[in-house]
Amino acid sequence: MAKKKLRSSEWFGSLDRDGFLKRSWMRNQGTPDEAFDGRPIIGICNTASELSPCNSHLGEFADKVKRGVLEAGGYPFEFPVMSVGESVVKPTAMLFRNLISMDVEESIRANPLDGVVLLVGCDKTTPALVMGAASCDIPTIVVSGGPMLNGRFKGGTLGSGTDVWRFAEEVKAGEISVEEFLSAESGMHRSNGSCMTMGTASSMACMMEALGIALPGNGTIPAVDARRKVLAQHSGRRIVEMVHQDIKLSDILTRGAFENAIRTIAAIGGSTNAVIHLQAIAKRLGVPLSLDDWDTIGRDIPTIVNLMPAGKYLMEDFHYAGGLQVVNQVLLAHHKLTGYLPTVNGKTVSENCQNVVNYDEDVIRPWDAGLTANGGIAVLKGNLAPNGCVIKPSAASPELMNHKGRAVVFETIEDYHEKIENPDLDIDENCIMVLKNCGPRGYPGMPEVGNMGLPPKILKTGITDMVRISDARMSGTAYGTVVLHVAPEAAIGGPLALVENGDEIEINLDERRIELLISDDELDARRSKWIAPPPVMETGYQRLYHNHVEQADQGCDWDILASKRGVAVTRDSH
Ligand code: FES
Repeated sequence: MAKKKLRSSEWFGSLDRDGFLKRSWMRNQGTPDEAFDGRPIIGICNTASELSPCNSHLGEFADKVKRGVLEAGGYPFEFPVMSVGESVVKPTAMLFRNLISMDVEESIRANPLDGVVLLVGCDKTTPALVMGAASCDIPTIVVSGGPMLNGRFKGGTLGSGTDVWRFAEEVKAGEISVEEFLSAESGMHRSNGSCMTMGTASSMACMMEALGIALPGNGTIPAVDARRKVLAQHSGRRIVEMVHQDIKLSDILTRGAFENAIRTIAAIGGSTNAVIHLQAIAKRLGVPLSLDDWDTIGRDIPTIVNLMPAGKYLMEDFHYAGGLQVVNQVLLAHHKLTGYLPTVNGKTVSENCQNVVNYDEDVIRPWDAGLTANGGIAVLKGNLAPNGCVIKPSAASPELMNHKGRAVVFETIEDYHEKIENPDLDIDENCIMVLKNCGPRGYPGMPEVGNMGLPPKILKTGITDMVRISDARMSGTAYGTVVLHVAPEAAIGGPLALVENGDEIEINLDERRIELLISDDELDARRSKWIAPPPVMETGYQRLYHNHVEQADQGCDWDILASKRGVAVTRDSH
């Protein structure tokens, strides 16, 4: 069989002026002759940044990937792309996911790359880089930065995010002092890596492994465990082989792979943010995937991984118990995964989890002893969310999953902050808190504010959960009976915009319904009087974002970014 011409040969393969230009300038960094002898050129797309604390250590993995690439006979070039740290960036990191994906896509398109290794970590960096690479569809492997070591404080463990939400509520309830709260800061995050709860970063790292686009172990090996360096080196070796075998992202990311990922997210109690990101990745590849698929495919999967926020343990414990391959083994045993699908190491999903052992059955529970019998993400629909909204049953209170209550409405997140601590706020524990204008366009960028803290006067009575509904997202580390991603969002006139204080709302998880209990005539009357809030567009980029972002049920990608796939080299200015 004739060897496929490498894409990089369009840059380095000619012996004329153009080849001279492209090779000669690359030599200024000490690039040897053999880099231009027709071997695969591998890009290492690095999101390392001191401003993204969860990704700040990725440089050491880039070095290991390079070593692996060279060992396998390729040549590596590392390049940076924009990075966002979830805990640092304002107004919300999600505002920049699509921008980073453009950066990645155009960097790959514009450069002599035959394959790419994506170095990711914090929440948005994973989907952003995969979306960009998916639009190019060249051989691709993901290497995640790995979770931090377990937080430690006063003899116990601390989970990033999850315990911050808990402590903050305890301060409001008067149970702990501000000084005690602040003293936990340095114990919570004490090593390199991403959040060590089953938040969005860990969910995405596991999802990469479940999809088959990262090597086994990627989901769980701690950031500072030497085995993650080995994983990076092996990824470098393997990407060169993938180029020779012409295994593109779309060869791995089939509909079956997405179905496997949905089931894995259910089993691990993964973040609701995974819904939005997986929708967006599928769309880039033209793989049909709907919001309803999350409910139907993931519905009968128990959450068997006992990790915060749904459970008790942290990512280190998950890895030492056997990691994601044990979960996949359990899913396969119950015929809930498609085992013959390929993965980037050349083995199938089934082959990757043979001979694995569950070393701790309290961390990775047996099938019939899960945290919830029906894990996954529930999708509710009704007159309040015609295009759907989501709730994570494993993080919700069972007694609130079928609930009717009086709406207490906050028009914006600022309105919420202004009113929530007012002792005169007309609210009790049976009310439903409603937050508007925090969707993809409304904020803009759909911040993680859907898990609004409860009013202090209710917390002081010992109540820790109420039903909350919004068009926002919530942190994967958060918990509660929180209905999110209402679509269409309030800012574009979705029915959420029409809810008024005192309305009755019903959520019914059993029937997957969410209803605003007013008549159609009343709803129409309110709609005719509704005035759109002025869009928040403070910068040119925000204007672009506002004009092109799609709704949550579609993955919040831009309508203009899923239009072209592939990396044919068409024009050259030289
Ligand atoms: Fe970066 Fe949680 S803030 S992973």
